[in-house]
Amino acid sequence: MSTPTGDDAFLNSLEQDVAAELRRAEASEPDDEAGGLPIDEWMFDPADVQREEIGLRSLLGAVKAMENGSRPSAAPASAHGIHVAARGHCLSLVRAVDRPTGAARYGRMFPDLNPLGTDPQLLMRAGGNGGICDAAAVLGGLGPGDDDASEAAGWPFFGQLIAHDITADRSPIEGDVAPDALRNARAPKLNLEMLYSDGPVGSPYLFDIADPAKFLLGPDGADAPRNHQGVALIGDPRNDVHLFALALHVALLQAHNRTVDLLRENGVPEAEVFERARIILTWHYQWVVVHDFLPRLVGASLVERVLAEGSRWFTPAPGQAYIPLEFADAAFRYGHGQIRHTYRLVNGGPLVPLFPDLVGFGPQPADRRLDLAQVFDLPGRPPAQRAKRLDGRLATSLIGLPEQVTGAVDTAAYRSLAVRDLLRGETTALPSGEAVAQVMNVSPLTADELDQAWPHGTPLWFYILKEAEHRGGGDRLGPVGGRIVAEVLIGLLRADPASYLSLEPDWEPILPADGPDFGLADLLTLGATRDRAGGAAGP
Ligand code: HEM
Repeated sequence: MSTPTGDDAFLNSLEQDVAAELRRAEASEPDDEAGGLPIDEWMFDPADVQREEIGLRSLLGAVKAMENGSRPSAAPASAHGIHVAARGHCLSLVRAVDRPTGAARYGRMFPDLNPLGTDPQLLMRAGGNGGICDAAAVLGGLGPGDDDASEAAGWPFFGQLIAHDITADRSPIEGDVAPDALRNARAPKLNLEMLYSDGPVGSPYLFDIADPAKFLLGPDGADAPRNHQGVALIGDPRNDVHLFALALHVALLQAHNRTVDLLRENGVPEAEVFERARIILTWHYQWVVVHDFLPRLVGASLVERVLAEGSRWFTPAPGQAYIPLEFADAAFRYGHGQIRHTYRLVNGGPLVPLFPDLVGFGPQPADRRLDLAQVFDLPGRPPAQRAKRLDGRLATSLIGLPEQVTGAVDTAAYRSLAVRDLLRGETTALPSGEAVAQVMNVSPLTADELDQAWPHGTPLWFYILKEAEHRGGGDRLGPVGGRIVAEVLIGLLRADPASYLSLEPDWEPILPADGPDFGLADLLTLGATRDRAGGAAGP
């Protein structure tokens, strides 16, 4: 046996120290209900212990690699090969400063169902390049418009903003954090936190210093404000991930500012203007979710049933809401299957790939602006582009996400959003789609409909996409996916004591609308239409 000297001795001693530290951290991990205390009364955050472990395992791996003669590459690798980029992507995972500060936890709709348990290698093959979730693999067989859904292309992007409003799980994709210890960095409420953050007092940089009741916009009014390095000053950085999310975010900022104008025109006292505008915009957004977004996604009759009869599997008490993992890591990721690879941004313009061309996290070139009529059917304008049909496959842009979105990764498969969706469902121990269908008393998809034989059952996310293809015509979610999404979104509103559904369930929109019913298009164009008639004096 050789005696370690110089560098080797140092590395050897460092390895011993880190290994001892890791053993100490592992030993200090609490049992489920430490000392009989409820989890919210623990003196320390169990997720902190797990984060410390992740860091120590990374360090141990790096030390061992150096002892074996291999030098680490540009950035330190973590236990499962993902690099944590210094900044600039929406998935920075283990930086303590970014960790969720709220106490919101995730929960389950079907706690009695067993985890499916699928080999991660199988999931990586299914979700990776050329796998069954890769739309490029079948592109050759499609004619123009063959993969068009009925709904306009902008709807999934609104869904993405809803997701950003209610859920932000910043845990590593490797699944090193136990599902019970996951924290949600967003409040589980449809409260436009992604816009308002902590309001003019807590987040003053979001607001116009000359008129703090209004949001600050970029210099030309068509972008979010940015710091001198181009980072968007907005309530949720994920809304700057690509041109479409940003365009919707800016449209909502403009809608708030326009609501402030309307309130002033209606003589509302200045001291009340900001709060009234916030509530008005939030209630209109909630109303649009229930009366415009959900009926298109799950069907009007299911929405009416859940409103009239209540929920069966998601019934949090007022003030006790949480996001179920079946929703965050499967059903509400349906939208990934509706994203197209290319979009036309202006009438007659070229088709532009979403990624890399339209990636965000910095100012878009001045000539790259989106005409909302290209992705939403607006009155007096030709029909917009359609969303991609739901069929279990993801567009090329999402099978190879850019580094700005994922951070640098050693494992190429982590670039695929389909891989990430499948792995998340696995690491959060979701049940199979068939098991959920059985509990819901819904006839399960057949092997033919599923296109792929899974060893023990179908991962819930994939099942919901295939269900949408075969039971929802590629346009809507089927009975399992639709029920989860409708119950959760309506359940969150019911559990929020400040929502319109809790306070005034019969409330109707008061902002100006172009048609008989107020809809998303009215909300998104409100800020751009200054001369429409109408008032905004309540609630
Ligand atoms: C270009 C469009 C989109 C991109 C690039 C994108 C990207 C991502 C990424 C990178 C994640 C984290 C993956 C992980 O590590 O688990 C994620 C999560 C998620 N996405 Fe998307 N997404 C897009 C569109 C959508 C749409 C249209 C929806 C729904 C309508 C959606 C819903 C969700 C949900 C619910 C999560 C889980 C969020 C959480 O709990 O933290 N996304 N997305």
